[in-house]
Amino acid sequence: VSTPRAARPCALILAAGQGKRMKSKIVKLLHPVAGRPAVAHVVKAARSVPCRRIVSVLGVQAAEVRSAIEEAARDGSRSKGIRPEFCAQKKQLGTAHAVLAAARILGAERGALLILNGDVPAAKPETLRALLYRHREAGASLTVLTTNLDDPQGYGRIVRGMDDSLQAIREQADIAGDASLEEIREINAGLYCVELEGLFEALRKTSRGNAQGEYYLPDLVGVLRAGGKRVEAMCHDDPTEVLGINTRADLALVSKAIYARKAKELMLEGVTLLDPGTTYVDVGVTVGRDTTLYPNVRLEGRTKIGEGCVVHSGVRIAESVLANGVLVLDHCVVTEAVVGAGARVGPFAHLRPGSVLGSGVHVGNFVETKKTRLRDRAKANHLAYLGDADIGREVNVGAGTITCNYDGWEKHRTVLGDGVFVGSDTQLVAPVKVGRGAFIGAGSTITKDVPADALALSRVRQQTIRGWAVKKRREMAGRGKSRSGRR
Ligand code: UD1
Ligand code: CA
Repeated sequence: VSTPRAARPCALILAAGQGKRMKSKIVKLLHPVAGRPAVAHVVKAARSVPCRRIVSVLGVQAAEVRSAIEEAARDGSRSKGIRPEFCAQKKQLGTAHAVLAAARILGAERGALLILNGDVPAAKPETLRALLYRHREAGASLTVLTTNLDDPQGYGRIVRGMDDSLQAIREQADIAGDASLEEIREINAGLYCVELEGLFEALRKTSRGNAQGEYYLPDLVGVLRAGGKRVEAMCHDDPTEVLGINTRADLALVSKAIYARKAKELMLEGVTLLDPGTTYVDVGVTVGRDTTLYPNVRLEGRTKIGEGCVVHSGVRIAESVLANGVLVLDHCVVTEAVVGAGARVGPFAHLRPGSVLGSGVHVGNFVETKKTRLRDRAKANHLAYLGDADIGREVNVGAGTITCNYDGWEKHRTVLGDGVFVGSDTQLVAPVKVGRGAFIGAGSTITKDVPADALALSRVRQQTIRGWAVKKRREMAGRGKSRSGRR
């Protein structure tokens, strides 16, 4: 979309509150929703409207909220992106008071301002654009986004006149017990478009004479109407987009809505989700066509999954990259890993940060890798710990192989050349290098480097005593003892 800069609105994000109803040490807006802090969703939406300036009001845990907003403004930006701006609300005296905190920074601006509650993360940019459009078309001073909820409890109610015009917004705390108001299902979404001209003067006319002793932004409706200004309400038909987060129950509801939307997006792009309701794909994740996600899969952060992959149930993949045609069997945990084309992982594999798998690699059940590279077509099919290792092409790592990478003080590296064969139950005591094409006999403890094409063995020679068991049984029988399985 290329909107002329002058036509772009400014945005103001209200992000100063604590969020007491969350009962959390962490400020409400930093709680993650589908992989990013709640407030980050609002910043992203404002960015894609697009807005000319994005100002946020900070208060509680200002430094942390600020960095979450900066991060959201930064990442994924194709255009140069705009630098977010901040202002401080020292005491949280209400939403109107919060907007007033921006008087200095926005006082000289004219035109439309989108005011966005920081705790309403699911609104789509197109909905905000529609709000802006409607506002301009109507020549309104204020346009409030509303929706109808089956359970409007907790939200400000929209009071309309006989002619359907917006008369007032009444807060939950102020209408308790007034059935005629409480049963209104149309609510204030906490997303507004307002003309900057005269805004701050009007806000100064709001009062704290209400149940919460706060300056209410919704009271702007009354102030502007009294001044003969035009106020509008635009009712949005998708309530899931405008749900606010006040409690952890709201957090769950909003997360679910965002996950559902992401799941639908993926399906429309050619990804199969066997059960979208139990597939949790964070908003920043990409998944290629013809990939299948089984139930109970979580894809987190900025994970990228290629085309034609299959991810089975119980798998969590975070901040990782999977190339095309990767098969991830059930119950794997994959974090900060890179998996090459056609690789096969799991079931029950654990790829920890810094794991890099080449193409066609197999990592099987109960194999753990960390800061380890397995080059193309290397295999570790069963029961192994591979840490701080560089494993060459087509290496076969036998069952029960362990890199002893830690000596109690430091981590050391293990290097296996191309085509090495590691017999089962081998310990590789790092630092150690095995040259290309070498063999390690099963059950070995390798403490010294092995040259290319050698066989290294470190185990006690086997002793075999013929007839020993016959003698032993006879001796025990003489003492009146028998053993099951005796011949
Ligand atoms: C607000 C609206 C309500 C609406 C609902 C939608 C008011 C008075 N009420 O209620 O009509 O239905 O949102 O979700 O506005 N904040 C500050 N500084 C403050 C107070 C709040 O920055 O002094 C921020 C909060 O961090 C939050 C946002 O403003 O992001 C909304 O505040 P909150 O207390 O959650 O308002 P609600 O009670 O949900
Ligand atoms: Ca709220």
